Amino acid sequence: MKKCSLDMVVSANILLGNNHFLLKFTYKEKLPEMLPGQFVQVRIDNAPGVFLRRPISINFVDKQNNELWLLIQKVGEGTRKMSEYKTGDVVNMLLPLGNSFTMPQNTQSRLLLVGGGVGIAPLLYMGSLLKQQGCNPMFLLGARSVDGLMQIDDFKQFGDVFITTEDGSAGEKGFVTQHSILHQHIDKIYTCGPTPMMQAVARFAQNNDIECEASLENKMACGFGACLCCVTQTQSGHKCVCTEGPVFNTKELSWQI
Ligand SMILES: Cc1cc2nc3c(=O)[nH]c(=O)nc-3n(C[C@H](O)[C@H](O)[C@H](O)COP(=O)(O)OP(=O)(O)OC[C@H]3O[C@@H](n4cnc5c(N)ncnc54)[C@H](O)[C@@H]3O)c2cc1C
Ligand code: FES
Repeated sequence: MKKCSLDMVVSANILLGNNHFLLKFTYKEKLPEMLPGQFVQVRIDNAPGVFLRRPISINFVDKQNNELWLLIQKVGEGTRKMSEYKTGDVVNMLLPLGNSFTMPQNTQSRLLLVGGGVGIAPLLYMGSLLKQQGCNPMFLLGARSVDGLMQIDDFKQFGDVFITTEDGSAGEKGFVTQHSILHQHIDKIYTCGPTPMMQAVARFAQNNDIECEASLENKMACGFGACLCCVTQTQSGHKCVCTEGPVFNTKELSWQI
């Protein structure tokens, strides 16, 4: 899939709670094809301390309105600058980067998409394409408390949504790996979120003989395989997360689970 450098135009910046926001972008021509799990590298202009582009997952592609959505958590200077974008601002991005989640062979498969915090971002687009292909995905979304839950109504358009919060303020109390949906039969899990959460999900999958794909969020610089700063150890040696990932079958990763 051809990588492009596009000057995208901000069409909306929607605040979602204290620390999260949803950016919607349009482009003057039809957006290129993008796969679920792929990411973009955003160039942060007018931020003297931010030299490198910032990798952000493709949250959703709204083909009808020719819009790309990015769901972002404010953690440092780059994401703070992005939170200030206004409608009409022009933002340069490299896209689409990385590999993607694998589509199931059988539309009857019971698929569970498990996201934690802002790691839910790539699961919305994945869920929409699964639904479009005739699958019935289920979403298990975790947050510290109800304030950290985002896009629940968007997820509900594509499948059943199950929730955990650590303080019990919404859904079942505890971690995603403690949710009662995990007692039901599951054929495949797709996950994205904090590494300890994904490792716990991978452990559950391994113990129950379930296929599991995880989208890693290693720190990145170039985003296209040139600097090797994003490598992860796998069963077949070091792999670049930006080009050979970010999605890996968890059996392939050298996680101590
Ligand atoms: C493939 C990929 C997809 C991503 N998708 C999203 C997304 O959809 N939404 C989103 O909000 N974020 C996403 N991230 C994380 C995002 O890239 C970082 O939060 C961002 O680069 C931080 O930039 P900053 O300038 O605001 O913070 P910095 O000033 O660079 O860092 C601030 C703090 O954030 C931590 N941090 C920086 N990068 C990461 C990272 N990759 N993972 C965890 N902690 C980090 C730093 O250690 C530091 O403590 C993704 C990362 C990758 C690699
Ligand atoms: S970020 Fe440079 S090789 Fe992956």
